[in-house]
Amino acid sequence: MKRVFSGVQPSGVLTIGNYLGAIRNFTKLQHEADCFFCVVDLHALTVPQDPAKLRENTLNTARLFIASGVDPSVATIFVQSHVPEHAYLSWLIECNTYFGELRRMTQFKDKSARHEVVTTGLFTYPALMAADILLYQTDEVPVGEDQRQHLELTRDVAIRMNNRFGQLFKVPEAYIPPKQAGGRIMSLQNPLEKMSKSSADPRSFIALLDPPDVIRKKIRSAVTDSGREIRYDPEEKPAISNLLVIYSLATGESIESLEERYAGAGYGKFKADLAEAVVAMLEPIQRRFAELSEPGVIEEILASGAERAEKIARETVARVQAAMGLAPRPQRVKAQS
Ligand code: AMP
Ligand code: TRP
Repeated sequence: MKRVFSGVQPSGVLTIGNYLGAIRNFTKLQHEADCFFCVVDLHALTVPQDPAKLRENTLNTARLFIASGVDPSVATIFVQSHVPEHAYLSWLIECNTYFGELRRMTQFKDKSARHEVVTTGLFTYPALMAADILLYQTDEVPVGEDQRQHLELTRDVAIRMNNRFGQLFKVPEAYIPPKQAGGRIMSLQNPLEKMSKSSADPRSFIALLDPPDVIRKKIRSAVTDSGREIRYDPEEKPAISNLLVIYSLATGESIESLEERYAGAGYGKFKADLAEAVVAMLEPIQRRFAELSEPGVIEEILASGAERAEKIARETVARVQAAMGLAPRPQRVKAQS
């Protein structure tokens, strides 16, 4: 059976960008593959975090996976830091990754420009992501378009280490939806930027747990393009195109059919209907999330997830240690006095 791995950072709330770009595909893939979905808390530490918030966001991210339809009885859901092999393999990978490769990463360039303090963790972040994926001998990685470059690096490093040390890792493929299918949901305030939970302006994103009235308000205040035509044209009409993509994914109605239905209708009516479609898409997620907040429920799921994950992770690490020449830890033969 095919193996799938993906990770989501617990850095605050999740947005409909995370949902439409990645998490929704988790729910599709879980029935055809052996899936590992990881809350990557070590990645979140690459930028400053409040410890209490990080702990809470970690559990909430796992709850949101399940509320979004990931079934913990078929998919393995776990927290990255609960399986120390992630950090360990990351080091072995760092020693096979070139400074120049990491320096070229566009996400590093963007984030290091935005943050005053740039940690080495932010720089080596892609090596940790490669470790996440390669530990599980992953075939496919469902992510949004913004992760394509990190996936390419993961493949390059896997191929390099396989050539150098013998077959260690499966070389994974990215599973990225096209833009019209959610691969890149844009900010509601600037359609040239991707929607991001770390944006300073909360009107730019819709969080999965935003109450209906907040969703309506955010969509009402979303920027639009000049003219009044509702047409999918990412070059000329990036804002309306983004709203059409969200509408289409929320309802399952094709973009062409929406264009036809809203011909001549004006932005006001279109936005009001879109808001209701997004409210309806998130309603079941919000309801299930509340149920999962009962104490002990998510903890049980994460405990068993970490157990399933660590078995596979340990096998891979043992193989890499041996191949790279790390001497095995000897067992005592003499009894301890
Ligand atoms: P992150 O929140 O950065 O950990 O991202 C988790 C997943 O959501 C990754 O697969 C991202 O590629 C995906 N993602 C994040 N933002 C967007 C977006 N605006 N559009 C599509 N996918 C996204
Ligand atoms: N870097 C990814 C992001 O920010 C999160 C991530 C970490 C990930 N490890 C991963 C995604 C492994 C897929 C596979 O979105």
